[in-house]
Amino acid sequence: MSERKITETEILNQVYNATDHEALMRAYRDWADRYDSDLLKRFGYVAHIATAKALHEALQGATQARVLDAGCGTGLVGDELTKLGYRHIDALDYSPDMLAQAERKQIYGTMTQADMKRRLPTDDDAYDAVVHGHLHLRPCHRRCLQ
Ligand SMILES: C[S@@+](CC[C@H](N)C(=O)[O-])C[C@H]1O[C@@H](n2cnc3c(N)ncnc32)[C@H](O)[C@@H]1O
Repeated sequence: MSERKITETEILNQVYNATDHEALMRAYRDWADRYDSDLLKRFGYVAHIATAKALHEALQGATQARVLDAGCGTGLVGDELTKLGYRHIDALDYSPDMLAQAERKQIYGTMTQADMKRRLPTDDDAYDAVVHGHLHLRPCHRRCLQ
């Protein structure tokens, strides 16, 4: 018997309605190995392309820039940046399962598992740019990014 495919609404509900950080991480753990195929083949996701393009424009094409892909997930944004010519991209995500998927793409330098709600384990001025693609920080979304 084949396993029923979770619908777009169901998976987004799990992510958007996560009441605490642990619930959000459980949702990403359960989704990590299907995230790329769901988003790209089923849901028509293109935000990673727009995000990479926006960064490329903001950096005026400076592909030598050191970039931190914060909340990298499975590495969709990093993948697009690599296609644009970026070679110095580090990855950071709180979910070890999403990070493991990103690592398989072999496009990042360092892979860091860290919570962006806390001070990051990176040196000041280590990066020329930080990119966030389609990120939900729960439960303190806006406050944490200030
Ligand atoms: C919707 S995914 C987006 C992934 C990728 N940027 C993309 O465009 O496909 C959001 C990612 O943010 C990560 N995340 C959420 N809260 C975080 C936090 N507090 N610290 C670090 N990563 C976090 C999740 O683990 C998840 O991998």
